[in-house]
Amino acid sequence: MPKKSLNILFASSEAVPFIKTGGLADVSGSLPPVLRGLGHDVRLILPAYPEALDRMVRTKEVAQLRLPGHHETVRLLEGTGENGLPVYLVDAPSAFQRGGNPYLGPKGVDWPDNHRRFTLFSRAVTAVGLNHAGLEWKVDIVHTNDWQTGLVPALLNSEWQKPASVFTIHNLSYLGLINYPAFSELYLPADLWRMEGMEFYGNGSFLKAGLAYADQITTVSPTYAKEILTGTFGYGLEGLLQYRSDHLDGILNGIDYDVWNPATDLHLDHRFDVSNLDQRVHNKRALQREFDLPERDNAMLLGYIGRLVDQKGADLILDILPRLHTLGNVQMVFLGSGNQYLEKALREAQFHFPEMVRCRVGYDEGLSHRIEGGCDAFLMPSRFEPCGLNQLYSLRYGCVPVVHATGGLADSVVDVTAETLKNGTATGFSFQNADPDGLWYALRRALVCYQSRPDLWRAIMARGMESDFSWHKSAKQYQQLYYKALGGEPRV
Ligand code: ADP
Ligand code: GLC
Repeated sequence: MPKKSLNILFASSEAVPFIKTGGLADVSGSLPPVLRGLGHDVRLILPAYPEALDRMVRTKEVAQLRLPGHHETVRLLEGTGENGLPVYLVDAPSAFQRGGNPYLGPKGVDWPDNHRRFTLFSRAVTAVGLNHAGLEWKVDIVHTNDWQTGLVPALLNSEWQKPASVFTIHNLSYLGLINYPAFSELYLPADLWRMEGMEFYGNGSFLKAGLAYADQITTVSPTYAKEILTGTFGYGLEGLLQYRSDHLDGILNGIDYDVWNPATDLHLDHRFDVSNLDQRVHNKRALQREFDLPERDNAMLLGYIGRLVDQKGADLILDILPRLHTLGNVQMVFLGSGNQYLEKALREAQFHFPEMVRCRVGYDEGLSHRIEGGCDAFLMPSRFEPCGLNQLYSLRYGCVPVVHATGGLADSVVDVTAETLKNGTATGFSFQNADPDGLWYALRRALVCYQSRPDLWRAIMARGMESDFSWHKSAKQYQQLYYKALGGEPRV
């Protein structure tokens, strides 16, 4: 018997191809279409940033909303992405028509009114979720993501006829904090400001509101779902998460296999798959040329892509560069932007090790594909990692990951050991302690394997390329979770 088709409103502050600062955008752009493929009516809702307005097609106004605490009428625009996914944009020019990025102004500092901007967005999501926008669309599930939409489950909570809510934690470290004077500007129900609600050690947290009120909570890997129950990873929310643990699940992110496919990727000089791995070396040479590094086939080329923030551990790589240098025949390329001191440290490393290190400070989608398609190994020494997508892209592109065994990295990379080599499951190298020595010894193991056992190295690459990290399995897990949030598994 077929399962009931659900109406799902997927609310996010960023989504590919409209706007992206990190992995949340990849997930919000790629999961909804797969859920639609399972037969559900999924619609994405985003703030109408200038980039999103530019990229949406067949745009038309479908509603005008008057929202508490906001002086202008908010327009709700409907359209689709390139792939036909239905999208609503919440058009409030004073909040979202700005340069910079969704969260930061041009100088890299948080917009001072982020609490007002995302309260407004959350109110618009809630109005659509409650069918108060006149769309004649009765929503079963509102799926919210990270602090920017954390208020939605809280606002839904006080309603009688309401959809079920799911709140996904992509990163617990962004708490969405506000102080009491800021809270009192928002015209929110006063009883949200209490310990069982969004009050958080004297401040308020939008993220905590999501955790406290959502019917179901998920995070983006099973291991991270366990880690956040501890003081080390819980950011002070471990008590609440333990209390709500019957409603907490970990579902590993998938990746978009059309966008990230080395056999069809137009960003690559030479496309390849597991049956013609020899083609890969052409991408390596092209990457060495692009970075102005000596073109050497036998040098082990290492890559890093990511936000330059403490979480990602780029400083651990910087720490071991002198040791790497003594080995010779290793090259390292970085692509990232973020903290100024890390950007500066990367530039200095390039200056100190001109034959070995190159960095590109900035954001470059095409280059990120070329790094995955041309490097031999990918370094991801994140101190914590809710899921991580670059190791999944690396696996798919035969770029062997070297990772700290935490969160989604632990759930997706199988460390090379005598046993995993024997049973053919090894896909990368991992280490237990997020410190320079941990990374160094894992990298040493990788280097020895790369240089002395090319046959094994190819087998590890091939195994990673053949692993399945498409959305297929995870989307079904979300479907199960939606039925659970609705109190069972309804069938038509
Ligand atoms: P997070 O969301 O914590 O930043 P993820 O690994 O989940 O980490 O996702 C990061 C996403 O952003 C990936 O798609 C990655 O390729 C991309 N990315 C990060 N920094 C850059 C950059 N400087 N240029 C291009 N893509 C980047
Ligand atoms: C967050 C996490 C990252 C995760 C991404 C998408 O930004 O830091 O680990 O992959 O969200 O879920």
